[in-house]
This record gives sequence, structure tokens and C-alpha cells, in this order.
Amino acid sequence: MKIRGAVLEEFGQPLHVTEIDLAEPCDGEALVRLEACGVCHTDLYTASGADPSGYAPTVLGHEGAGIVERVGGGVTSVVPGDRVVTLFSPQCRECVHCRSPQTNLCLAIREQQNRGYLPDGTARLSRDGEPIRHFMGTSTFAEYTVMPEIALAKVSPEAPPEHAALFACGLSTGLGAAMYTARVTAGATCVVFGTGMVGLGAVAGCRLRGAERIICVDMSQERLALARGQGATDTWTGGPDVVARVLQETGGFGADFTFEATGLVAVMRQAVEAARMGWGLCTVAGVAGKGETLDIIPRLLITGRRVCGSSFGGVKGRDQVPELVQLALDGRLDLAPFISHRISLDEVNQGFELMERQDGIRSVISF
Ligand SMILES: NC(=O)c1ccc[n+]([C@@H]2O[C@H](COP(=O)([O-])OP(=O)(O)OC[C@H]3O[C@@H](n4cnc5c(N)ncnc54)[C@H](O)[C@@H]3O)[C@@H](O)[C@H]2O)c1
Ligand SMILES: [Zn+2]
Ligand SMILES: [Zn+2]
Repeated sequence: MKIRGAVLEEFGQPLHVTEIDLAEPCDGEALVRLEACGVCHTDLYTASGADPSGYAPTVLGHEGAGIVERVGGGVTSVVPGDRVVTLFSPQCRECVHCRSPQTNLCLAIREQQNRGYLPDGTARLSRDGEPIRHFMGTSTFAEYTVMPEIALAKVSPEAPPEHAALFACGLSTGLGAAMYTARVTAGATCVVFGTGMVGLGAVAGCRLRGAERIICVDMSQERLALARGQGATDTWTGGPDVVARVLQETGGFGADFTFEATGLVAVMRQAVEAARMGWGLCTVAGVAGKGETLDIIPRLLITGRRVCGSSFGGVKGRDQVPELVQLALDGRLDLAPFISHRISLDEVNQGFELMERQDGIRSVISF
């Protein structure tokens, strides 16, 4: 079928919204009609050419929500008419990682997905007979996409599509970092470094887990105001003195849980140093630049601090994204402040510009 999609033709160039071909879903795959899709830093990072593993041409986009239109052979977990959230982090429920409660890093389709292909090693997207690759296995800057069923989370049909799309990436990453990776405990003191989409999700996750004190650190007053709306009890401007201030306000010990959501290794270091002696857990969600390293004084570990990373918030997508979406439907998450701009597919490059200016949290494409 002919569809419109935003193609990254060449790194460093604006996306080209154009007509392309999309083949029917094969066995284990589904055709999804996109209803909404967020514009994220990861799309821009790849578009810029800074990502060494990037490829072109490809249709970008990974924060999608839509409706299943048709399914290929053997598909049992979704049927036409289901509302789904697209998962760049799939859940096959069969691999050794999916069977373990300790990780969400499904192994089923990683290799082909990283190369921009569907699990059988081919593309459904093409133009004039030439394949176009599937970015992150999702390619949701398009009217339709074909994805493996293991990468589709079936969510409540009542979820508004633009809200559902937020759960495809940053929001679930932040919520999950607090709820599933760190498993914040009731009464805890938490510090969240960086209050973009991921950090704000972590704030909400800390609140839902019953944290008593949620200190947020960012450079932007606007974002700190949003953090207060999600449950932050203290909002501080970032800088070199933050660790000393955390220690001072916690009897010299540090916070029970710290979260890093900036992608800056210097801030990751602060998050480690602000964690409590004895049991403080630092959860790193930010993605550092290629080749960068994190400096940790080993004594901090010997004296009981722990550091862990969190990919997609440790969320097992097919099982847990629907649960997170339900939290919003139950009124326990306030999602409206996250959507700052609504744009059309043709305006996707403006979405990138808004993000570069740090104007709002998310621009969401409505189809
Ligand atoms: N782990 C995952 O699966 C996953 C998923 C999505 C995004 N990410 C990563 O998470 C990070 C955050 O994503 P985002 O979309 O929220 O980004 P964002 O750019 O919207 O937010 C980052 C925030 O950090 C703040 N900041 C900058 N310098 C700071 C400092 N010195 N101290 C405190 N705050 C500071 C900025 O003002 C900004 O508000 C990125 O690195 C992104 O790549 C990871
Ligand atoms: Zn994203
Ligand atoms: Zn798996």
C-alpha cells in the first residue's frame, strides 16, 4: 500500500515527508494505523548523524500509538481494532531474559532490529523497489507501520492516543526506573537529576511508590515547575553544589534513591555521590555520548552505595505498558502537562526545532 512517511534521506538534512510503499504484514507481524506519535531526542540524534549506529534511508519515529488494522499468520495477541503502543523494546515472553523477572532486555529480535530490519531480515518499507529501513523496529513517523506482534502492547481502548504515545518511550522509562528498576520504598527520600520527559516520569513513579521527599534538580525553572506538578517536594537549580546540599539536608548521609535523566556523565557522577551511604541506589536512565565514561570513587561503593542502569525503565512492554496506561486512566497520572505542542506529520521538522529550543516537553504528531 502507499503511505506517507517522514524519511531520513541523508544525515543532517531535514526529514522528507513523502509517499512510500508498505508491504503487508508477514507471519507474526501486524499492520498498525498510527494515531499519534511523540517526537523524541533519539529521533533527532539519529537524524543529525551523531549516532554511530544510525542508517539511512529510514523512516524515523518510535513513540507511536495506533490501531491494529490487519495481522499476519500466527498472530494471536492482537486483533484488528486493538489500540496498541509501539515498543522499541519488545517482549517475546520466551527468551531467557523475558523469562527472568530481573530484566526487560528481550533478546528475540535485537540483531535485525538494530540493523533496521524486521525479524526475518527484510524490510516492509520501500520506494521504487528499494528497501527503506525500519528505525528502532518501529518507524512511526508514518501513517501506517508493520511491526512484530511481540513489539506491540495492547492497551485500553479508552486511552486517548496522544496519551498512549507518551508511554512508548520517555514516560515509561522514567516511571519504570522508579517503580520497577529502583522499586522506590514508601517514605524514601529521592533525588531526580534532570526533569525532561524521563525525569518527570521518575518523579511521578517516586510519588506513586509513596516517596516522602522528592528533590528535583534541573537548569530550567519551567521544567522544575512541571516537576512540582508531578509530585516534587523540593526543586533546585543544578550545579556543582548539589551533592553537598543533598548531604546537608539528609543528615550527612545522602538520598535513599537517586535518578539520573540528563545523559550527562558529570551529572551521573553527582547522582552516584548523592546516594546514601549504606543502601543508596543510583539509577542511571540517561544515555551518554559514545565513548564517554562515568567516574566513580570506589570507596562510595564499598560503603554501600549501588549503581544500576535502566533501559526503558525495566518495563516489560507487553505486560506492563498496559498497566501504566491504566494508572493514567484511573486518574493517578496527570499527562496533559507533557504534551506541549500538537503537530501534523508534515510539521515533523518543526517538532525537532521545538525540541532543540527546549520548548515544551513533547510535540505529538496527530494523524
Ligand atoms: N534509558 C532509556 O531507555 C531511555 C529512554 C529515553 C530517553 N533516555 C535518555 O534519558 C535522558 C533524558 O531524556 P529526556 O527526553 O528527558 O531529555 P531532556 O533533554 O528533555 O531532559 C534533560 C533535562 O536535563 C536537564 N539538565 C541539563 N543539565 C543539567 C544539570 N547539570 N543538572 C540537572 N539537570 C540538567 C535539562 O535542563 C533537561 O530538562 C536522555 O539522555 C535520553 O537519551 C533513556
Ligand atoms: Zn524516545
Ligand atoms: Zn524475549
